[in-house]
Amino acid sequence: MPIRTLDKNGNVITTVGFNRFGFDCEVSLDVLRSLYLRPHYVITASSPTATNDELEGKMEELQHARFTGGYGAYQSKSIFHPDSQSISYTTLSRFPPVKLLSPSQRKRILVTGGAGFVGSHLVDRLMILGHEVTVLDNFFTGSKTTVSHWVGHPNFEMVRHDVVEPFMIELNHLTILPRNIPPCMPCLPSHYQFNSVKTIKTSFMGTLNMLGLAKRTKARFLISSTSEVYGDPEVHPQHEDYWGHVNPIGPRACYDEGKRVAETLTYGFHRQDGVDVRVARIFNTYVPRICILISSTVNPFDGRVVSNFIVQALRGEDMTVYGDGKQTRSFQYIHDLVDGLIALMNSDETRPVNLGNGDEFTIGEFAELVRDIVEKVQREDGVEPRRVNIIYKPMPTDDPQKRRPDTTRAKQTLQWEPRWTVRMGLEEMVRYYKAKMVEGSL
Ligand SMILES: NC(=O)c1ccc[n+]([C@@H]2O[C@H](COP(=O)([O-])OP(=O)(O)OC[C@H]3O[C@@H](n4cnc5c(N)ncnc54)[C@H](O)[C@@H]3O)[C@@H](O)[C@H]2O)c1
Repeated sequence: MPIRTLDKNGNVITTVGFNRFGFDCEVSLDVLRSLYLRPHYVITASSPTATNDELEGKMEELQHARFTGGYGAYQSKSIFHPDSQSISYTTLSRFPPVKLLSPSQRKRILVTGGAGFVGSHLVDRLMILGHEVTVLDNFFTGSKTTVSHWVGHPNFEMVRHDVVEPFMIELNHLTILPRNIPPCMPCLPSHYQFNSVKTIKTSFMGTLNMLGLAKRTKARFLISSTSEVYGDPEVHPQHEDYWGHVNPIGPRACYDEGKRVAETLTYGFHRQDGVDVRVARIFNTYVPRICILISSTVNPFDGRVVSNFIVQALRGEDMTVYGDGKQTRSFQYIHDLVDGLIALMNSDETRPVNLGNGDEFTIGEFAELVRDIVEKVQREDGVEPRRVNIIYKPMPTDDPQKRRPDTTRAKQTLQWEPRWTVRMGLEEMVRYYKAKMVEGSL
């Protein structure tokens, strides 16, 4: 039986998206899930001496079928051979159906950073909606596997390229999503390392290059800015007119100031050259798709803190909270963010717009919520959970104490509000991560 997901008002969610500003972005949730919840491979079929592991693999296949409600035909069926510890890769024999749009409706969209957490989900939505999508990514933190299910589709193109170098293409819409945050050093798991020069270079040079491209092609330009532009805010919740409180020389400055200068550039091109711009200030977002850097991010409080907590709880390891756990954050689920980005892109709003979920948790409360959900899911699957501990480690420098979006502008100008409860998004993620762990791909 497929998983039932309820929205904030208790209604079952079967689709995401809406028809707004003349742009219909509604798609079936099951179709989307068949892309991001698909298994990486299946265990070799009908072995006469099936081991427990293989049988467990079959169970996982069934588990995935629960998520993806009959859309298995669109899943890749790479086969794992336990005897030789090898894998035979297959490509999709059939792509998921995409809308047939007339040439005037079909947009040519470039998504830079399109292989990342956010980008890959945006790409899935735009593809299913029938647009032509080019992903530009250097795969620094993203992974080809997040969008590989579209490779070969006539509407899709993937380019390995670094945005700090100029890039030429013809297009209508440009969405810029890269952030350049390297993994922490494996030998220093508790220290977050910045390649600060590359980080700020990506923000500045990448945005400059892409704005130049938007100017030349007259494409509409959307930049994914961040709540980090507010720094450690003195105003709570943060609204778009607040100028922020950022340490310009601290270890986080390369990211925070990088995004601030990217916004400055964006409005420079808007005022000076008439580039049609949209600025989304994204608050912490959690995402079910697994990218390569599960436990390595410079910012342990961004969307990836969620992945870290889930993985630790499922493995029965202590869950690590940085600081005393009293700092607050709010988390939005990816589908709400993608709805917001598409609504913003198609609206006339050129001012910055906050996109985030206003439900505020302390990080300590959030860790407990994740632990409860992991235990609930384990019990439902017939496993008696072992209660893991939540441990506290020193807080990184300059980390903000409070972060919650004021989304009044998004409500008024985009008629956008988050629909997903944190609990629902987390449940989906926990089930998926659990399946991935048994499969061996996490
Ligand atoms: N996820 C969140 O919670 C969150 C919160 C606030 C803002 N944002 C913003 O949203 C955007 C996407 O975030 P994400 O979570 O998907 O991050 P991500 O790291 O998963 O994705 C970024 C993508 O950009 C690519 N990239 C990095 N440097 C590049 C370069 N120089 N050239 C080409 N590609 C490059 C990476 O390989 C990756 O695929 C970022 O701009 C980020 O600042 C995200």
